Amino acid sequence: MDLEIKGKRALVLASSRGLGLGIAERLAGEGAEIIICGRSEGRLAESAEAITARGGGKATHVVADLSDPGVTDHLEAAVRERFGDLDILVNNTGGPPPGAMKDAKLEIVEKQFEMMVLRVMDITARFLPAMQKSGWGRVLTVASSGVIQPIPNLGLSNALRSALVGWSKSMANELAKDGVTFNMLLPGRIQTERVEELDEANSKRSGKSIEDIQAAARAAIPAGRYGTVEEFASVAAFLVSGPASYVTGSLLRCDGGSIKSV
Ligand SMILES: NC(=O)c1ccc[n+]([C@@H]2O[C@H](COP(=O)([O-])OP(=O)(O)OC[C@H]3O[C@@H](n4cnc5c(N)ncnc54)[C@H](OP(=O)(O)O)[C@@H]3O)[C@@H](O)[C@H]2O)c1
Repeated sequence: MDLEIKGKRALVLASSRGLGLGIAERLAGEGAEIIICGRSEGRLAESAEAITARGGGKATHVVADLSDPGVTDHLEAAVRERFGDLDILVNNTGGPPPGAMKDAKLEIVEKQFEMMVLRVMDITARFLPAMQKSGWGRVLTVASSGVIQPIPNLGLSNALRSALVGWSKSMANELAKDGVTFNMLLPGRIQTERVEELDEANSKRSGKSIEDIQAAARAAIPAGRYGTVEEFASVAAFLVSGPASYVTGSLLRCDGGSIKSV
């Protein structure tokens, strides 16, 4: 299927590694022009160069820390200079620290809310007018299966990402007539460095070996395994594609069946 995104201009937030980078690679493979961003200059420069060398769409990078209140202006300036405007925005962020909701200190909740929720809303708002004007836009927000089935010991993730569910659906309703879609993609357990780190933290906390932790996690997934970044990125690519023009306001799971409800 032709995804019809050759030449489209895309910004992928939090994309120096993991899911964000996987999505950027996939979109560039389909011919989209990409800006990747994150805090690690070295990793970003290497990844942008590698993406461009593969011969699809070109990738460049911006060093941008989503916890910095000035980051929206900084990213907007970079997009204006390189692309003028955006056709595709992929909202991804770093994950919050693990822990029980009841133990979360208010200042941490506030800091994470700013980074994971407010920044996403603010950055999106900057690029909507041009999408509306052109009659074509795609906003995809990466969240977590925890917004449907809260994940134990990831209280902040469950709580804060749920705010984005209401936001994305409201935006979908308000912008559907303008050809701008808003969807959310919910990873279950996709093999990335963050998942590895969470498994290690879980192993330390419980005193169980990492192999046992991972075997138990796999046993709870109907597919019997973690997903790959490529599997996740393929779903993302469809959701921001031309053929997905009538898909908006959706929460799509990419979880190997692990969410228990329908
Ligand atoms: N993988 C999964 O199965 C899964 C499941 C549920 C939810 N999620 C969520 O999906 C998101 C991506 O997951 P992942 O597994 O790809 O995580 P990851 O491997 O930790 O990658 C996170 C990305 O976010 C960037 N980042 C972190 N803090 C940032 C900041 N303050 N400003 C800008 N960029 C920042 C990191 O780059 P720098 O370090 O260079 O800044 C990195 O590129 C996370 O929010 C995660 O919680 C993932």
